[in-house]
Amino acid sequence: MLFTRDDVIIVKRTIITFGGLRSTAEIMRVRKIHNADERLDARRHLLIETDYREPEKLDINSVFPGFKEYRLEIGCGKGAFVCGEAAKYPDVAYIAVEKITDVIIFAMEKADESEMQNVRFMIADAKNLTKIFEEKTFSEIYINFCDPWPKKRHAKRRLTNRDFLTEFKKLLKDDGHIAFKTDNADLFEYSIPEFEESGYTLKNVTRDYHNSEWFGCDTETEYEKNFSEKGVPINRLLAYK
Ligand SMILES: C[S@@+](CC[C@H](N)C(=O)[O-])C[C@H]1O[C@@H](n2cnc3c(N)ncnc32)[C@H](O)[C@@H]1O
Repeated sequence: MLFTRDDVIIVKRTIITFGGLRSTAEIMRVRKIHNADERLDARRHLLIETDYREPEKLDINSVFPGFKEYRLEIGCGKGAFVCGEAAKYPDVAYIAVEKITDVIIFAMEKADESEMQNVRFMIADAKNLTKIFEEKTFSEIYINFCDPWPKKRHAKRRLTNRDFLTEFKKLLKDDGHIAFKTDNADLFEYSIPEFEESGYTLKNVTRDYHNSEWFGCDTETEYEKNFSEKGVPINRLLAYK
């Protein structure tokens, strides 16, 4: 067991396969909720297991046999958005990625309650997504209320930094797009040129989504509900490949 930060442990899991013992999936776990392992195990059928540090390519068709369209949420938090969208579009397969296990447990519990068949979860870091998924897999990618990393020296950690956006672009189908929402006006203004410099075409750009003509076309996220109830305007854009 490796202690990497005060509150985070990297746990090495051992899985028994037909071939014997196999060491796999390093997962990130925050020591904050009770019975995390039991709660995760109870919803393991919704989890796509990957090695957190050295993920391998995934055959998405084997995860979702029969589906033709795939969408991806990066940093799904407690899952309100992905569960809402998956319920609205049962013919579309959704993968929700989140790097913190204790957070994704809530999302998996939400999906399990409604017994939806078209959503799966993955504990992974956004920086590894092009190692996991084939190019041109997703029709839509969602980045909702990602951490703003306000200090300039941390700009490269923002999920809308051009290095991330260039990688995410590989995952999009030719006519695919990223939908980006944030409460953070500075992050939004920073992100617009990052998208443009990465070769995306921007559409439906709004700095007040809830009072725009596009409001209602997607599901509200947990952070969105929280901020909009406090009167904070929500910024949103679509970025086409
Ligand atoms: C501010 S929360 C927003 C949660 C949710 N999208 C919402 O709008 O309610 C950002 C989430 O992204 C996750 N996250 C941040 N960086 C990530 C990364 N590099 N890879 C995967 N998830 C990440 C965090 O753990 C956190 O749960």
